[in-house]
Amino acid sequence: MEGRADQRSWLASLPAPVRQAYLRRPRTRRSKVLFLVTATGVLIFFIIALGSRHSQTETSYWIKHPSHYASSQRPQDSLILSPSAPQVDDDGTLPSSLQKSNPSFHLLIPATKRSSSLCKTVTSAMLLNYPPPTLIGYGKEFHGRYPEHDATAARVRGINSYLTNSKHLRDDDLVLIVDGLDVFFQLPPDILIRRFHNLLKENNEKLKRKYGMVLVQNPDTGEIKEIVQKYEHRVLFGAGKTCFPNPSHDVACVTVPESTLPPDAYGLKTDTHPDGHLNRPRYLQSGAVIGEVADLRLIYSQVEQSIGRRRDRYGDQFVLGQLFGKQEYVRELERRRSANRFKEWVYNQIGISEATNLTGIDVNLEQGRRYEFGIGLDYESRLFWNMLQSREDVEWVTYNNLTETSKIQQRHGVPRERITPLPSDIHEYAQNPFIAYKPAEGEVVKPPFNATVDTLPDPKKRSWENIPLMTNVHSREIPAVAHLNGDKRLRKIWWMNMWYHPWTRALLRKYMRGPRGRVAALSSLFGGRDWWDLRGGRGGVWTDNDEWLDYGELCEGYEEEVFDDEKGPWGLEDGGELEKPVYNQFGVLIAGKGPPNIDPQQVPN
Ligand SMILES: *[C@@H]1O[C@H](CO)[C@@H](O)[C@H](O)[C@H]1NC(C)=O
Ligand SMILES: *[C@@H]1O[C@H](CO)[C@@H](O)[C@H](O)[C@H]1NC(C)=O
Ligand SMILES: *[C@@H]1O[C@H](CO)[C@@H](O)[C@H](O)[C@H]1NC(C)=O
Repeated sequence: MEGRADQRSWLASLPAPVRQAYLRRPRTRRSKVLFLVTATGVLIFFIIALGSRHSQTETSYWIKHPSHYASSQRPQDSLILSPSAPQVDDDGTLPSSLQKSNPSFHLLIPATKRSSSLCKTVTSAMLLNYPPPTLIGYGKEFHGRYPEHDATAARVRGINSYLTNSKHLRDDDLVLIVDGLDVFFQLPPDILIRRFHNLLKENNEKLKRKYGMVLVQNPDTGEIKEIVQKYEHRVLFGAGKTCFPNPSHDVACVTVPESTLPPDAYGLKTDTHPDGHLNRPRYLQSGAVIGEVADLRLIYSQVEQSIGRRRDRYGDQFVLGQLFGKQEYVRELERRRSANRFKEWVYNQIGISEATNLTGIDVNLEQGRRYEFGIGLDYESRLFWNMLQSREDVEWVTYNNLTETSKIQQRHGVPRERITPLPSDIHEYAQNPFIAYKPAEGEVVKPPFNATVDTLPDPKKRSWENIPLMTNVHSREIPAVAHLNGDKRLRKIWWMNMWYHPWTRALLRKYMRGPRGRVAALSSLFGGRDWWDLRGGRGGVWTDNDEWLDYGELCEGYEEEVFDDEKGPWGLEDGGELEKPVYNQFGVLIAGKGPPNIDPQQVPN
């Protein structure tokens, strides 16, 4: 009681405003909090300001090393799938010189000699209507001291030289390069290209958030020309589960990004099982790649130089892995340089850091040298699936049976098991492969239809929904291209598992019946895509010397392995109708047997 009275008299002696403030304690506490928050805010502001001020004084890695891409056009915006109509002359006719207005699509297959494996690759590409393949390095032999290295070096040289010198390629044309020994095509090219574009769009959104934009200055005037995204994906390779053949402390193995699959995609032991088969794919695989000519040229000319330098040891897989690792290394240096230090610290504390692991990596960067190639990987095998250490990951799934798809996921221990219907892109854009070829009016089909060898399932009853499609169960994706770089003994069995078996011969004959010559070229101008590569040729392959190799020649003797139907040699299954000559619109023999050239006027339309 005494104390209270004391306090009251003490209060009474204070000036009125102070007394009031003292009595209304709650407000005081609130203002204290307010003060603290403001002070912290100001402090943070200074840390941020200091953090970014500090970094801007260093030279950008983006400028120190050439980082402009080959073109300011992004591959994801290419009009390859939606050609514009050709220009029509004033009198309503087509111009006499047929010029394709949109970019073309090309398929390159490094292969030095004939083999049943090459025939499987080519056959599956043809029956899905990919452009006629160009074989790189066909007919070359190697007898030097290091035949294996010489073959690898020649393959890379061949690819680079074709990308650089071929008169058939435009800078913005799209090119798919696949190994010639162990690739099966599964889905049509439209789907592959669409997925390529979509994946680039998705990835590039993420890269924009991660690395930001850069002001491009005119080197002479210093004026700002434009603001562009610093780093993009423009070329996509397939992904593999182990870093090979590079040593584990190599830049190819350490600095590359993490997989986009969830950390438990392979169950509890994901990424930790010693033999690697439960790793999420993360490392570049050189067996399949897609990108535009100008971007691929930058990559392959660099690879050619690097391989040439280290004669006895490294192949393209090694060098491409390093190229990718160094690209990511420089991107990370640039990110750290321009990052907000405080944000970095906070992200680190709460464990959401975006930093790339640079532990133990010290790349000797050469001033003025390019390390940026726009390389990205397809981690989820939407485009490419690689078999190495992944043979347990696929099943042939029939998508109209949902109980079956769900069971398969259970069997593989896939977390968050989900009913998966047929992907909508296949549903929407892939034509039923069993629809027979409809010839144009007056067109003579070749080979002529023969009921014994040309029987296909009824397209009303069979389509993509009910044929078995090789599916990566862990990513729930159906790859367009399967690269069987694992156990060789499985190739034979798996070939028979593919959806085209046992109709492979009939489907290939159907493909051969497709449009040729002038009719087809016109159709491509009006938006038809069955004529991807205006050079023409159907029913065979080109070599990099512009020689034509008929399918029958390329695959003679391998028919049983490819078709498994006991119907004999290709072209003779119906009594030899296919051997009769066919000419393209320029009067050049493109199929069958006959004089190599005739007067173009005589080409039957
Ligand atoms: C970073 O790389 C080093 C060397 O390869 C490795 O030992 C370490 O575990 C990695 N750190 C992370 C967080 O992945
Ligand atoms: C679906 O698959 C299950 C299990 O694999 C099978 O028992 C059933 O007959 C299939 N249903 C249809 C309609 O094919
Ligand atoms: C169809 O092919 C068979 C061989 O498979 C052949 O005996 C027959 O003559 C062919 N028919 C025609 C009309 O060409």
